[in-house]
Amino acid sequence: MDLHQDENKVKEWTEANSQSLGLNKSNIEAKYIWNPGGFVNQSYRITDGQTIRHLKLSQEQKAAGLKQWVKLSEHLSNNYRAPRLIREVTQEITSGYSYGLVFDFIKGKPLSAISDPLPVIEKVLKSLHQLHTDKEIGMIVASEDKNYNYAAAFTDEYITRFEEDLQIIRADKHLLDFVTADTLDWFDTEVEALKLMVSQHPSFQRKATDIVHNDINWQNVLVDDNNDFWMIDWDDLTVFGDAAMDYSVLLWPLYKSKDWTYCRDLVIDLAGRAILERIEFYFRAKLLDDVIDVLADYVDAEHVPELKEMTQKRAKEMHLRAYPEYLRLYAR
Ligand SMILES: Nc1ncnc2c1ncn2[C@@H]1O[C@H](COP(=O)(O)OP(=O)(O)O)[C@@H](O)[C@H]1O
Ligand SMILES: [Mg+2]
Repeated sequence: MDLHQDENKVKEWTEANSQSLGLNKSNIEAKYIWNPGGFVNQSYRITDGQTIRHLKLSQEQKAAGLKQWVKLSEHLSNNYRAPRLIREVTQEITSGYSYGLVFDFIKGKPLSAISDPLPVIEKVLKSLHQLHTDKEIGMIVASEDKNYNYAAAFTDEYITRFEEDLQIIRADKHLLDFVTADTLDWFDTEVEALKLMVSQHPSFQRKATDIVHNDINWQNVLVDDNNDFWMIDWDDLTVFGDAAMDYSVLLWPLYKSKDWTYCRDLVIDLAGRAILERIEFYFRAKLLDDVIDVLADYVDAEHVPELKEMTQKRAKEMHLRAYPEYLRLYAR
């Protein structure tokens, strides 16, 4: 990946398509947005100096999620504070990224940069609860009924991801001089154990039919100057999900903080007490994600010279923080 060259390609494409983007052809600028969570997507801020747009590009394997978003975009903008879709991109603008979408640019800060996130969290929780039982979405993304329980939804979200990460990590383990061979073996054992635990647990046996955003972390909630919130990054939405996934991802930074019991009680009010058992397993998976998934990001960053140092530093720090914490909390 050559980011400078990619920015130029996006600039040229924007100039050639300025009319459909509602932009003025002169003065076009395109800027890559660094997102530490990996490189399967690329994001750009494009502007003519007056109007700003957001361009999201994806590799072939992630395009289905963006295409699903197209079908839902009007409903999501009208009901869930999702940015308005401007147009699709079916041309491969930058190498390897064959599909994309352009949205209104939200002038806001991520939730992680807000000094008092709690009032926003409360509103987002309510919105998510509404989403989880939204009948209209199921009708828009018509899909075959999957006979699929909460354990399968958990496996699909976390276990599959860990297994893919472990393949990437093992293939390039020489890059990870701070991870021992014993640790790699422990990853395999732990992922298998977690999968078994969840598949046998009574609270995961019900059919999974919650509509979930699936990645509502604090980078995917933006807060604008009016203190209004926006939910972005809808490409992982599924209609066969577990509401516990969304609550756990959103509340993860507050887990065990002074605000945790307050937030937990909000969730109980919205979704009932039974969900808490599953949320606890999701928190465990989230911490394991901070141990394992960041190592795959570390390896992937090797091929992106401009972002390598920044991405690898962050990934290593997260891993070294999360690993002893996980052992302390969960090792038998
Ligand atoms: N419509 C938007 N307006 C402004 N910024 C956006 C918009 N969409 C995304 N972003 C910024 O780009 C980043 C990456 O976009 P996102 O859709 O979350 O991609 P990814 O799937 O790679 O996480 C976000 O964290 C946010 O900072
Ligand atoms: Mg995101």
